[in-house]
Amino acid sequence: MAVNLTPQPVRASQVTMTEMVLPQHTNSFHNVFGGQVMAWIDICAAIAAQRHSRMPCVTASVDALQFLAPVKRGWFITLRASVNYVGKTSMEIGVKVEAENPLTGELHHTASAYLTFVALDENNTPSVIPPLLAETDTEKRRYKHAEIRRKNRLALKDQTNAAT
Ligand SMILES: CC(C)(COP(=O)(O)OP(=O)(O)OC[C@H]1O[C@@H](n2cnc3c(N)ncnc32)[C@H](O)[C@@H]1OP(=O)(O)O)[C@@H](O)C(=O)NCCC(=O)NCCS
Repeated sequence: MAVNLTPQPVRASQVTMTEMVLPQHTNSFHNVFGGQVMAWIDICAAIAAQRHSRMPCVTASVDALQFLAPVKRGWFITLRASVNYVGKTSMEIGVKVEAENPLTGELHHTASAYLTFVALDENNTPSVIPPLLAETDTEKRRYKHAEIRRKNRLALKDQTNAAT
């Protein structure tokens, strides 16, 4: 498979995804089930990763995830994903989750997550992907911060591997 290595702007792969919290998405408190939000985050990030690389991608890691506010049955959930940083074969995707009360339009920041995806070639081995063009000040700031998180993430992985 020929890989297109033309640098890609952040905006080319951004994703906005809206869901409605239905009864099958809720826990016994009639709030959205955390695992459901995690699945939506993974899907939203996977779309951004595949739009950027135009290759099949797998989730390599998800950084710590905090649920900041409960989301009620019948509310809307909007997820926004953006590629923050691209390495050789991997990329960090940031996802912001907001809940919307459909009756008032009030928005609540529900969760944010950083995920790392790796693009795979036809042999299912990591494949080189196009670099990222961070154009705006926000995109440049996110790129710089993502680079620091990547260093910490890989250092933690090395430490864990060394301890086993
Ligand atoms: C992700 C996976 C492909 C990485 O394979 P690997 O042999 O460790 O690959 P490499 O060491 O060559 O690393 C490839 C890239 O992944 C990154 N990476 C590897 N492990 C990582 C981790 N735990 N967190 C973040 N990035 C990671 C490396 O930094 C590297 O990035 P770079 O090329 O941009 O520098 C492999 O671990 C895998 O297939 N995991 C299962 C993925 C999966 O099935 N996910 C679905 C949910 S189970």
